[in-house]
Amino acid sequence: MKKISIIYGTCTDHTKEAAELIASKLSQFNPELHNVADCGAEQFEQSDFLILGTSTWGCGDLQDDWGDMLDKLSGANLTGKQVALFGLGDSSGFSDTFVDGMGELYHFFSDKGCNIVGHVPTDGYSFDESTAVVNDEFIGLPLDMDNEEDQTEERVESWVSELKPLL
Ligand SMILES: Cc1cc2nc3c(=O)[nH]c(=O)nc-3n(C[C@H](O)[C@H](O)[C@H](O)COP(=O)(O)O)c2cc1C
Repeated sequence: MKKISIIYGTCTDHTKEAAELIASKLSQFNPELHNVADCGAEQFEQSDFLILGTSTWGCGDLQDDWGDMLDKLSGANLTGKQVALFGLGDSSGFSDTFVDGMGELYHFFSDKGCNIVGHVPTDGYSFDESTAVVNDEFIGLPLDMDNEEDQTEERVESWVSELKPLL
């Protein structure tokens, strides 16, 4: 059985809540759930399938604890791992940098030779710009707990059902 880890970085617990919801939907696969602030490179190296979540702060910046983690991962060998990304953001207040933190994770883990899965169409989201959009689709699951919390459950359910055949 593949070892699945869900690892999140959060400042006000929105990404933690989303991570817990994703974990509950995947309970039959026994995923591990970690705050990235408590992780070392081994959590990444020892997992087969990584589900990674970040919020976006400042103006398009990755959540702080992730910045520290990416430094720690600079020498890690993650080639060939499957990675699914989710990002928390505010599509109304930060429409020009919507979930850019997720875009940053995408570039880092792609450059590390990971296989990024779980892309999501942009339909149904209202925003101006996002570095998390590549080839006209989101490279992971965007969630907006500030304005569209009522859609979170359905968005997670649909995304998780796409991931399950890969687990
Ligand atoms: C000062 C500030 C800056 C933010 N910057 C962005 C941003 O550039 N892009 C974005 O999509 N969301 C931005 N947000 C929204 C947060 O990412 C959003 O509230 C998220 O749900 C927080 O998740 P967390 O509690 O897990 O950290 C910002 C929020 C604040 C308060």
